[in-house]
Amino acid sequence: MAGGDSAAVSAVEGRLSELSTNSDEKGLPRRGKSLSGRTLNTAQIQLVASHPEVYEPCDDSFALVDALLSDKAQLLTLKPRLCMEIGCGSGYVITSLAIMLRQLGSGTQYLATDINQHAVETTQATLEAHGVHADVIATDIVSGLEKRLHGLVDVVVVNPPYVPTPEEEIESNGIASSWAGGINGRQVIDRILPAVRELLSERGWLYMIALEDNDPLDICHLMNEKGYASRVLLKRCTEEESLYVLKFWQDASTGTNASHAARSPRSESSWLSQLPFRSLWHKNA
Ligand SMILES: C[S@@+](CC[C@H](N)C(=O)[O-])C[C@H]1O[C@@H](n2cnc3c(N)ncnc32)[C@H](O)[C@@H]1O
Repeated sequence: MAGGDSAAVSAVEGRLSELSTNSDEKGLPRRGKSLSGRTLNTAQIQLVASHPEVYEPCDDSFALVDALLSDKAQLLTLKPRLCMEIGCGSGYVITSLAIMLRQLGSGTQYLATDINQHAVETTQATLEAHGVHADVIATDIVSGLEKRLHGLVDVVVVNPPYVPTPEEEIESNGIASSWAGGINGRQVIDRILPAVRELLSERGWLYMIALEDNDPLDICHLMNEKGYASRVLLKRCTEEESLYVLKFWQDASTGTNASHAARSPRSESSWLSQLPFRSLWHKNA
């Protein structure tokens, strides 16, 4: 429900307080194992639950999970205490993340939100089918969680609704709200970014999908002005779209100073030239 489910929020708080005391994986015999007994790195598609009103894992979901896999060693080193997905849909991504990081045991907790109640139920079923756990909350972005989770989340993953559409499609109750991103596909993204900045810990990372049409360079600029460095972890071109998986993290050398510097054309060009992904852009490159 919009505004955050207070029982679920309390459960999250309870689990957070357990983080330092309960760090083994006892009682989860199937955790991270395929039906054949092989150790898994991601959720298995045949175990991902579905519902006609819930977004099925697609090229963008796979791109996000592939990018997380490519960063798995860094994620294990980070040892995130709390990982969160915004807009979890079928649960494929948050389940894959929990499987990828299973060796961290219950020292790492997982939380997912979706505005669609059917997605919440589908994600719960997918998690359960893989023997992993996350608290799943029906809410608009992170509404109702901001104060409790302020500065506590170490990893946020988002495959947002990014398709450019008429504004009113965003408000549709059906499956269209899974992809409807409004003008330039940015209307939900531009609400997600400030909310994520409130939640991320100082060492926190954001992984987010963006489409060429969303102007990912502009997204990186905006985040840079708020003190976040960024890079493209993965670029994937399908027949329909060019997808980027962007990674953001706080960087002392960016932020207010960089934002002032970026106002002068000379310093802007030198700042831009330092972006590791710059050559990947079709435009502005
Ligand atoms: C592109 S789908 C991604 C689903 C899943 N994460 C995946 O990668 O397969 C976007 C998801 O965001 C959810 N969503 C859309 N607007 C939202 C909002 N304002 N707050 C929370 N979730 C939202 C949709 O219901 C949908 O499940």
